[in-house]
Amino acid sequence: MTSVNVRPAARGDVPRLTEIYNYYVIHTPITFDVEPYTVEKREIWFDQFAASGRYRIFVAEDNGAVAGYACTMRFRPKAAYETTVEMSIYCARDAADKGIGSRLYAALFDALRNEDIRRYVAGYTMPNPVSAALHERFGFKCVGVFTEVGRKFGRYWDVAWNERPGNLD
Ligand SMILES: CC(C)(COP(=O)(O)OP(=O)(O)OC[C@H]1O[C@@H](n2cnc3c(N)ncnc32)[C@H](O)[C@@H]1OP(=O)(O)O)[C@@H](O)C(=O)NCCC(=O)NCCS
Repeated sequence: MTSVNVRPAARGDVPRLTEIYNYYVIHTPITFDVEPYTVEKREIWFDQFAASGRYRIFVAEDNGAVAGYACTMRFRPKAAYETTVEMSIYCARDAADKGIGSRLYAALFDALRNEDIRRYVAGYTMPNPVSAALHERFGFKCVGVFTEVGRKFGRYWDVAWNERPGNLD
């Protein structure tokens, strides 16, 4: 019987988070990164998250092993965008479609419910029916598709952008 535990990520999780993410970097167009991360570079990425505030990261442990993560990040650098956060979520290749993504998002949105966030946004490379279902389930609506905005594996990819109201409407 699977037992899933969701908790804030710790720095010691970074090697496993890097491993989970690099699979999608190397093998899929789901992320537009094209070079795998080293753990050292992923530690710099990890520094954007904190135990409070808008930018959080949670991991899911499946029978004691980290099987996925979800986080919120700054959407764009200009100051007025600060009340918008962008989602990122990755489950290990063998842990997808088991309900872990939903558990992660539930914990993340619950932790952020009192933060000054007006919009959550999420973009996914098309097609990705599992990501579409997950985001719809959590109240995201597709607001449009950017066509051919990424080139990877010798072809161009479309990205569907989704938004969900924030906390203080
Ligand atoms: C996207 C991802 C995070 C979702 O996490 P997950 O644990 O697989 O998701 P869940 O099991 O909680 O939910 C999956 C949903 O997709 C649905 N689904 C699964 N396969 C589907 C398919 N082929 N077509 C349509 N819906 C599908 C499930 O029924 C479920 O919807 P429901 O909750 O309304 O029943 C995970 O699959 C993943 O890491 N994928 C690879 C990386 C990725 O795509 N990241 C997102 C980039 S934005």
